[in-house]
Amino acid sequence: MVHSKAGKPDRDTNGTLINKIKSHHAVVGIVGLGYVGLPLACLAAGKGFKAIGFDLDHERIKKINQGRSYIQDVPSKELSGLVQIKRFLATPDWGKIKNCDILILCVPTPFNKNREPDLTPVVCATQEIAKRLRRGQLVILESTTYPGTTEELMLPILTTGGLKGGRDFHLAYSPERVDPGNRNFKVQDIPKVVGGLTPACREAALTFYSAIVPRVIAVSSPRVAELSKLLENIFRNVNIALVNELAMLCDRMKVDVWEVIAAASTKPFGFMSFRPGPGVGGHCIPVDPVYLSWKAKECDFYTNFIDLAAEVNSNMPYFVVRKLQRILRLRGQNALARKILILGTTFKKNVDDLRNSSAYKLFDVLREEGFEIAYHDPYFPEMPTNFGTLRSVKLTEKTLSGADCVLIHTDHDSYDWDWVARHARLIFDTRNATGSIKSGRQKIFRL
Ligand SMILES: NC(=O)c1ccc[n+]([C@@H]2O[C@H](COP(=O)([O-])OP(=O)(O)OC[C@H]3O[C@@H](n4cnc5c(N)ncnc54)[C@H](O)[C@@H]3O)[C@@H](O)[C@H]2O)c1
Repeated sequence: MVHSKAGKPDRDTNGTLINKIKSHHAVVGIVGLGYVGLPLACLAAGKGFKAIGFDLDHERIKKINQGRSYIQDVPSKELSGLVQIKRFLATPDWGKIKNCDILILCVPTPFNKNREPDLTPVVCATQEIAKRLRRGQLVILESTTYPGTTEELMLPILTTGGLKGGRDFHLAYSPERVDPGNRNFKVQDIPKVVGGLTPACREAALTFYSAIVPRVIAVSSPRVAELSKLLENIFRNVNIALVNELAMLCDRMKVDVWEVIAAASTKPFGFMSFRPGPGVGGHCIPVDPVYLSWKAKECDFYTNFIDLAAEVNSNMPYFVVRKLQRILRLRGQNALARKILILGTTFKKNVDDLRNSSAYKLFDVLREEGFEIAYHDPYFPEMPTNFGTLRSVKLTEKTLSGADCVLIHTDHDSYDWDWVARHARLIFDTRNATGSIKSGRQKIFRL
């Protein structure tokens, strides 16, 4: 028998739920059907659980129920198959919370305009669950957040109706680690870290994840799980900042940073390769460190590495524009050489995601410096900017040769770099996309 924190047996809460999970009779509710929630809902449904998706976006709900996917990593064929056999349905009706045995929150965790954590979606979704919470349910937060969110923020909301966490219902945190666009690791391949409010909460969550992913790692508390996710992304952010700084130094030293990184990467241990670029973007890398540095201040602690990394990374678009101006001068372009064609605007390659993309800042800085900007991105026919909506140009020999410089911001695999190099007059490549091409080297400048 498992005991809750309060020392009371929670056999009913746990036994019934665990049996339901093991027999795949548990109904899984996924709250927030975006890059994280939709693949997870499809995974659970594909493994034989009935999945119910909740979202505030009625358009998304409609699309799901028509079997039309809006997330690149989820093929419509897979989604429509699950909808047709009624294994997965999406609904705006919060009343269906009661039908779920497990509720998993995958709502956004952005920052506000003062760069502070904005947990409004987590609070609102938790409140909806709290209004309908019943004995025996398991609530799991998957959204990336600061340590303490599950216990300090969610638990008090969930207990407002009188049910006790760990005794009447279970609560756990398990960070999502998906990497949209990554063809080698999909949601079903990535191990899950799980921390529960009580050992019984953890056991329930472990039982569920063991049924859908090959490996689960139990940790002692939700806080450990929350912080482990932040560590993963901060590690990445700090290391990107390190190579970005190195790129700026190499530029001054006239050393090829890409060659330096390639050489260092041959060490078979103790080194991990990161790549410089025009800045960091997406919903995770620039945002997650903010969550930790904000929370750290509560402990009178200053996270210097995080702040330094943010400073270096946010400087990159300015550095790119300064270097572009130098390249144009070096090439003897006159002051009228102002037409820049940007290739790729998403925050990383092969994804349909513009969130926090460094292209936004790049556009702003280029505009401030008087450049005329056009862009092409296969994923976004149009793009909102601070100076109105831009439309992606058609990528032709004429558009390439018509630009004074082609600036590579995102190195999507769909681009034919040899062809680009043959027709562009000048290229500034911030991603080393053209590193291995043979033609036109004399007109290619790299970060
Ligand atoms: N995108 C990634 O690569 C990734 C990877 C790992 C972790 N995460 C984390 O997962 C969480 C979700 O990210 P995402 O990229 O899936 O976000 P997203 O914006 O793609 O999707 C979030 C969904 O939640 C819905 N939503 C917002 N508020 C809601 C509410 N109160 N109730 C119900 N639905 C609501 C939105 O309409 C949207 O469909 C974030 O914390 C993020 O940091 C994201």
